[in-house]
Amino acid sequence: MIKKGIILAGGKGTRMSPLTKAVNKQLLPIYDKPLIFYPLSILMLANIKDILIIVNKGQLNQYKKIIPNGNNLGIKITYIEQDKPRGLPDAFVIGEKFIGKENVAMILGDNFFYGQNLTTKLLENTKLKKGARVVLHKVTKPELFGVAKINKNNRIISIKEKPKKYLSDLAITGLYFFDNKVVKYSKKLKPSKRGEVEIVDLLKIYKSKKQLSADLIGRGGAWLDTGSIEDFYKTSAFVSAIENRQGFKIACLEEISLNKKWINKREIINSIKFYGNCDYSKYLKNLIKK
Ligand code: DAU
Repeated sequence: MIKKGIILAGGKGTRMSPLTKAVNKQLLPIYDKPLIFYPLSILMLANIKDILIIVNKGQLNQYKKIIPNGNNLGIKITYIEQDKPRGLPDAFVIGEKFIGKENVAMILGDNFFYGQNLTTKLLENTKLKKGARVVLHKVTKPELFGVAKINKNNRIISIKEKPKKYLSDLAITGLYFFDNKVVKYSKKLKPSKRGEVEIVDLLKIYKSKKQLSADLIGRGGAWLDTGSIEDFYKTSAFVSAIENRQGFKIACLEEISLNKKWINKREIINSIKFYGNCDYSKYLKNLIKK
């Protein structure tokens, strides 16, 4: 079972400037909560309780104000600062000590997932013992993402980062599962032309060893990458529509912990005090009413 997870939540957020000049992108709102709550909820739903959040140098205090530690969630949060955005696999180099001898999941801080079978799929993927696994989702603009071509048996036959020429319409989402070799392989990577180490180069190492597998999110599932301002508004509208229709919140961290029995009433009351008088707290109050 994969028990450790990394959220990569640094990056310059240049595409969203001036919004991101003072505040990190992952702390900006998706409807009623900061973006970081959504990827964090995904790791928690995967039963991952030991979580490393990688943030930009100088922005640690911003994060600690909203997620000081995992105490009120019954999980353990560790932070590391990344001095500059060296690329996604850098997470496994600076996270080496955190990972230790274990396998690890990684989610990008700006990725949003939602769907019915999601939890079952997540739990299935945490069973990974050897190799690497990516999660694929069909998109209309594959040129904006890492892309994978698969054969009839769902085996990956080729992968490319932001291909100019059409390869496939399956995007490689920002949720990955790796065995412990990821640390060793990541250290070996050389920066690409754009000056970053590339996740596809890391995945290609696994592919060359026939150890790269794929999981597909079908049409019942939603995956949104909140890379631009337009995406932020679209994702917010999606969350708002679902939450207001159903009365359930997406990515209410305390609710996930409570359902998993990682916390009880006392921690929820602490959280209510922490957030203060707001709609989110009202929702938390309702959780412990019964
Ligand atoms: O969202 C899925 C896509 O994410 C994948 O399909 C691509 O294969 C993958 O390369 C990545 O593409 P992006 O262009 O979206 O990556 P971006 O540079 O925007 O970084 C994604 C997140 O990771 C973002 O929240 C910032 C953070 N980040 C990024 C880098 C390069 C860091 O914290 N540190 C870094 O060094």
